[in-house]
Amino acid sequence: MIDVRVLPDADAVGVAAADLIDGVATRPGGSVLGLATGSSPDRVYGEIVRRHSGGPNPYRDARIFILDEYVGLADGHPERYAAVIRRAIADPLGIPADRVHAPDAEAHDLDEAGPRYDAAIEAAGGIDLQLLGVGSNGHIAFNEPGTPFDSLTHVTTLAEQTRRDNARFFGGNIDAVPRRAMTQGIGTILRARQLLLIAVGSAKTEAVAALLHREPTEEWPVTALHHHDSVTVLLDPAAAAGVDLDDVRPSIGLGRSSSLVE
Ligand code: GLP
Repeated sequence: MIDVRVLPDADAVGVAAADLIDGVATRPGGSVLGLATGSSPDRVYGEIVRRHSGGPNPYRDARIFILDEYVGLADGHPERYAAVIRRAIADPLGIPADRVHAPDAEAHDLDEAGPRYDAAIEAAGGIDLQLLGVGSNGHIAFNEPGTPFDSLTHVTTLAEQTRRDNARFFGGNIDAVPRRAMTQGIGTILRARQLLLIAVGSAKTEAVAALLHREPTEEWPVTALHHHDSVTVLLDPAAAAGVDLDDVRPSIGLGRSSSLVE
């Protein structure tokens, strides 16, 4: 079942996502969180950090597995996703470095590093909650269109569209954006016990419409979420603008807070 909620704006998406993540993080015994990068999750992390700075920290015992990592960025490069997650959430919440895991995209043997990452996730007990964004072309993590739904962590070549979209993090210079990345596979993502996808802004309209309208298809990796039984999708009105209410797939539940149904 995919529970879709359309919220008034991007900030409300950040707050609602933080509520859900907080709910999982505060479970006794510590939780395993799968975290994404990109501009949409930034709001979520900002909200979580704001809530917990100065007070008791429910994330102290959390373990983090990052979704993906560029291949070929020098150690210390600020856009390495491991560095992004440290800055955005792990350091402000005081999560020790040895509890923050990223795909080893600089491994000598990249073919071996993927399965090693999947094994590390499994050894940690699996991911309780995986936060996801979506690319304008429907990618999740760096699983570009055409990626098999049963793929595990692997090295991938980035789509031209993705490199164009992400050039903004590299001073607008597409040539500075790596051509390859190591990403959790779609099969890896689907193993998480709960998925939370957030999408804000008009660049996501087409990908969101594909998720809500289409049969699962490898052309739109995000449609793989139909193969999971616990998915929450939080949208702002711009991301939801292409949705035709008369045509959503039967497994989509439109939550009561959804402006689509109000
Ligand atoms: C990158 C990440 C994805 C993310 C996507 C969209 O490509 N690998 O995990 O979902 O960006 O991010 P944004 O929220 O910046 O649009």
